[in-house]
Amino acid sequence: MPAITNIEDLRQLAMRRAPRAIFDYVDRGSYDETTIRANRADLDALKLRQRVMIDVDNRSLKTTMLGQPVTMPVALAPTGLTGIMHPNGEILAAHAAQAFGVPFTLSTMSICSIEAVRAAVMEPFWFQLYVMRDRGFAASLIERAKAAQCPALMLTADLQIQGQRHRDVKNGLTVPPRLTLGNLLDIACKPRWAFGMLRTPHKGFGNLTDALPKGSGGLTTLSQWIASQFDPTLSWNDVAWVRSLWPGKLIVKGILDAEDARLAVDAGADAVVVSNHGGRQLDGAPSSIAALPYVADAIGDRCEVWLDSGVRSGQDVVKAMALGARATMIGKAFLYGLGAMGGRGVTVALELIRKELDVSMALTGTRDVHDIGPHVLWRG
Ligand code: GLV
Repeated sequence: MPAITNIEDLRQLAMRRAPRAIFDYVDRGSYDETTIRANRADLDALKLRQRVMIDVDNRSLKTTMLGQPVTMPVALAPTGLTGIMHPNGEILAAHAAQAFGVPFTLSTMSICSIEAVRAAVMEPFWFQLYVMRDRGFAASLIERAKAAQCPALMLTADLQIQGQRHRDVKNGLTVPPRLTLGNLLDIACKPRWAFGMLRTPHKGFGNLTDALPKGSGGLTTLSQWIASQFDPTLSWNDVAWVRSLWPGKLIVKGILDAEDARLAVDAGADAVVVSNHGGRQLDGAPSSIAALPYVADAIGDRCEVWLDSGVRSGQDVVKAMALGARATMIGKAFLYGLGAMGGRGVTVALELIRKELDVSMALTGTRDVHDIGPHVLWRG
């Protein structure tokens, strides 16, 4: 196998090893994919300012996210269906993140349940919440996150309704994967994945067994389930409701607008994530890096501001921090690693980003990650 030198190498390997329908689910964006492309294009368009002849020995990448020490300002974002990208995916990714010293966030739409992941890892993780029409069920998820000692709850604000991902419709994405002839042929070429999936007990939506219609056996298209269960009436009042049930840190993810950022802080957020859901929701929305300065300016130091959507390298982390993010989150970048090589691939993804961040800091004359600021961007 050729050397893995960047996240794209992991992506290529994941494409070969994971079933096509799940790879596409991870890889693609909504509608015409203008926003997913903008995420990358706008990050690429930012240029870093090279500085020379500065002592950059003994660099430090360590910081905190909501008071939690992290070895670099990168957390694993909550991602649905991670345990289908690779068998036991959430457990493997949580292990890798904890060993590396960065936070792992478990999605409501995970395959391994809150309890299964908690039983398998040393430390509690963050839990991401989708609020369902059945508020009793949403409250029960919060209780389960409390019971698992999760220190932070991440409320996703930008998915009351799902943006259509054309590939998922065309692939008929179901959980577990539907065994059509096409899928069977595809899976037959991915024996490593298939044997792993046969062996694991984690095959359906682990957190949702009480919420799925009886007799469905967990087999449902994701978009159908979301359309029937997610609450489209979700409002800032509900964030106050979540806040009242949740004693730990509260993170609101999916903010692209300065006004929404202020409302999130007013509703009790300890951190907001500037995010367009990896270009998977409102196609035509700005890239998260374009929205970041407005949100950072609106919030000031009232709470922490993080960024996700498009982060694929340590250079991207530097750019996000230069424009006002305290930290970043990665979704696709770690999922490619997971699909390519399981838990080891997640570690490789994190190592690649750490190395890139470290070298980019050095070449911009930065010794401490806290010293990254607007001055590291080239303005011409
Ligand atoms: C869910 O979070 C998705 O993007 O599919």
